Amino acid sequence: MRYSEELIEEIRERNDIVDVISSYVSLKKKGVTYFGLCPFHNERSPSFSVSREKQMYYCFGCGQGGDVYGFLMEYNRLSFGEALRELADRAGIQLPEQEMSREEKQQEDARLVLREMNKAAAVYFHWNLLHSKRGEKARAYLTERGISGETIKHFGLGYADLYRDDLYLYLKDKGFTDQQMKDSSLVTIDSVRGSYDKFFNRVMFPIMDAGQRVIGFGGRVMGQGEPKYLNSRETLLFDKSHNLYGLNYARRSRDKAMILCEGYMDVISLHQAGFTNAVAPLGTAFTPGQALLIKRYTREVILAFDSDEAGIKAALRALPILRDNGLQGRVLSLKPYKDPDELIKAEGEKGFAQRLEKAESGRMFELNVLHDRYDQQDPGSRTEFIREMAKKLAEIDEGVERAAYVQAAANHFMVSEKDLTDLVNRYGLGYQYQKANENYKKSPETREQAGTKKADLATQPQKLLLTWLIEQPGIYPVIRRIISPDDFLVPLHHAVALMIFDRLEKGEEIFPAGILGKFTDAEEKREVAALFNARLDYEPDEEKNDRALTDVVRKVKLASIEEEMTRTNDILRWQELIVQKNKIQKLELHLKD
Ligand code: GTP
Ligand code: MN
Repeated sequence: MRYSEELIEEIRERNDIVDVISSYVSLKKKGVTYFGLCPFHNERSPSFSVSREKQMYYCFGCGQGGDVYGFLMEYNRLSFGEALRELADRAGIQLPEQEMSREEKQQEDARLVLREMNKAAAVYFHWNLLHSKRGEKARAYLTERGISGETIKHFGLGYADLYRDDLYLYLKDKGFTDQQMKDSSLVTIDSVRGSYDKFFNRVMFPIMDAGQRVIGFGGRVMGQGEPKYLNSRETLLFDKSHNLYGLNYARRSRDKAMILCEGYMDVISLHQAGFTNAVAPLGTAFTPGQALLIKRYTREVILAFDSDEAGIKAALRALPILRDNGLQGRVLSLKPYKDPDELIKAEGEKGFAQRLEKAESGRMFELNVLHDRYDQQDPGSRTEFIREMAKKLAEIDEGVERAAYVQAAANHFMVSEKDLTDLVNRYGLGYQYQKANENYKKSPETREQAGTKKADLATQPQKLLLTWLIEQPGIYPVIRRIISPDDFLVPLHHAVALMIFDRLEKGEEIFPAGILGKFTDAEEKREVAALFNARLDYEPDEEKNDRALTDVVRKVKLASIEEEMTRTNDILRWQELIVQKNKIQKLELHLKD
């Protein structure tokens, strides 16, 4: 839905962020800023700040931040439209009806209906399990699997009855229409067989979002049967790649890391054993969206995937996803047991805790898997292994980290450290060259993507420069001579730079919440909020400050020039860029001139 910017702005102005957040989080005033315990991660001392002046919140612990809309979206799991309506309501502002298109309104209503229906179904399944006669069999099954009555309630487990139109009739009785039921994926309706439940004679696992609302189901056959697990298909509410089973509890866990396992039963038995930081994907492979979800709460993930070949493959796929999204991954060994559920049964929580301690780094896990795939007795095969290992090590971008792993690997696999280092350096050069070369050959779109990769390296200085401009707009006249918004390579930074430069050019003040309000995506809001709250360590010494700023400006400009150099096919432009690059390298800025 599209509401006018003025309206969005007015609603924001009429809802002071401190007042709104105070009704969810208890805040104490310290200086001009309010502080409280962050509702988005676990902490004992308050690092969650709310600023009346900036009209935004920011957590120095987990990096969550945004304006009043962002807070409500995050806290209550609302869409932007829902947050807007709530705030309009709160301020007594009448929303113009026609602003939401009919189609959008229908979608919104459909989501509401789906929420209600999922909730009704969960209650029904749960009641069946606990109180119905036929539910006895399911209760016995769960007891036999070691699941306590308390755990059943905690996870809201249920039972889908033997009859194939049981739920259908129940929901119909509640007033839901056939079409609504069809859209929910709970009931299948076709012209030949009529209406029948998707789930029957299964133990039911309600899947909840982080806000504790049922969005879908997993169902397991009791005993043998195919398929073993059946999951709701995706609906308006249920997005498998952006949710995790158990996250509604794991987000409140006090443990630093999250445990990622394969299935519902693993999560349940881990939580029952006290490991309330366990989560699992929803019947699909682990996705980048799920990595970002985890990143809201922690930076460390311990993989506890099944110990079979499929589990190892899944771990090998998950580790790079974690890495690419800024998460550190470790891998726990379950051997000789099949999965966490079995391990807990055999060794108890102590056993599992010990293995958690001993979980190895993702990189060492990858190398160990590689090691096992080669015959180490055969010289040719062992050489091949060492080469492949060196190639993997050469991909580690950061020098210090690379050296640490080379050393660890040399010790662990008994290779001379010097030989391995030489080999890694050789492949390292080859790898860089290959990357540069690929870059050169790429088609225009992919070249742009490669440019974004490059932009990643320059991300830090770009952010710093934006923060600097926000905090000390006085430097603008000096900056604008060298930097333009186009020098900000990351699209989000570019967008923020355009707004900041525009304001400063007109001699206007920068109003953080106003800029934040231009972004409606939660992830973007968070990133922009981080820009407004980064702390700059000013040097009291003017000269040092000049040098620090020069350094930042130089890095931003150089990255921008280099990015253009990889893109241009025009030799004259290339030469110009070389000249510019040399000039920038000699740049010296003085703030007080
Ligand atoms: P139990 O045998 O009940 O202990 O299950 P488990 O937790 O060991 O599950 P398993 O390792 O077999 O599978 C892990 C996850 O993969 C499950 O939680 C499901 O989400 C998914 N899965 C397993 N089997 C099937 C299947 O037959 N169909 C579908 N769609 N998903 C499955
Ligand atoms: Mn398993």
